[in-house]
Amino acid sequence: MTMNTRPKLLVNIDHVATLRNARGEGFPDPARAAGICEAAGADGIVFHLRSDRRHIRDEDLPALKAMVKGTLDFEMAATQEMVGLCIDLKPSLCTLVPEGREELTTEGGLDLPAVAEELTTLAITPLQSSGIPVSLFVDPVPAHIDMAAALGVEAVELHTGTFANAWMQGDSDQVKYEVGRIADAAELAHQKGLLVNAGHGLNLDNLHAFLSAVSHLHEISIGHALISDALFLGLSTTVKAYLALIHGQTEGA
Ligand code: PXP
Repeated sequence: MTMNTRPKLLVNIDHVATLRNARGEGFPDPARAAGICEAAGADGIVFHLRSDRRHIRDEDLPALKAMVKGTLDFEMAATQEMVGLCIDLKPSLCTLVPEGREELTTEGGLDLPAVAEELTTLAITPLQSSGIPVSLFVDPVPAHIDMAAALGVEAVELHTGTFANAWMQGDSDQVKYEVGRIADAAELAHQKGLLVNAGHGLNLDNLHAFLSAVSHLHEISIGHALISDALFLGLSTTVKAYLALIHGQTEGA
């Protein structure tokens, strides 16, 4: 199987903030995590400032802006408050997503036929007028890609959650169907001159199959799995660092 062109990797650091907020301390610091991700080769960072501030908070924004050298993608709902904050920060990309108060994570793409007009006046026009490129998080539905192109945005981010769920359930027919829908949507978006981003539920297990099947990917964004993997890939080293300290101290005592 030949791999398609390598997309950029953007790391979503929201869950570093989730961990920080759990103790109300200043660590772990999402901006520090962003620096480590970029030093390791990541092409940029995504953060989602939710209206309930459950993970990233306003005070993280200038720190992330100062730290991130590559793409800084400000993911947000299209509200007046968020648009103001985004224009003040001037990230390299703004990804507009639907936001439900009760949801655990973003559950699907924007319902473009229902929200296109509001999205344009409230967010797309002011953001683009301030020089911020806009990406719309959409389900891999041809009519929604057509609408995104008609709205004049720079990019779409294709929702990969249904593919990831099918993969997790081991349902190979469904995987084939879902990845096929995304591949077709990516092709259409590319033909329409849109940059093609993708994300949600991608991980070390499903990523190879995804990248092998989908062309034209510009950026993929990965959060929950990558930050979770970092815990387990780093836990052994960390325990050894503590033990070295403990043993060093007892030997010296
Ligand atoms: N893209 C968007 C628009 C998202 O809302 C999220 C989740 O915050 C992601 C990508 C990353 O998804 P995951 O955390 O499952 O990797």
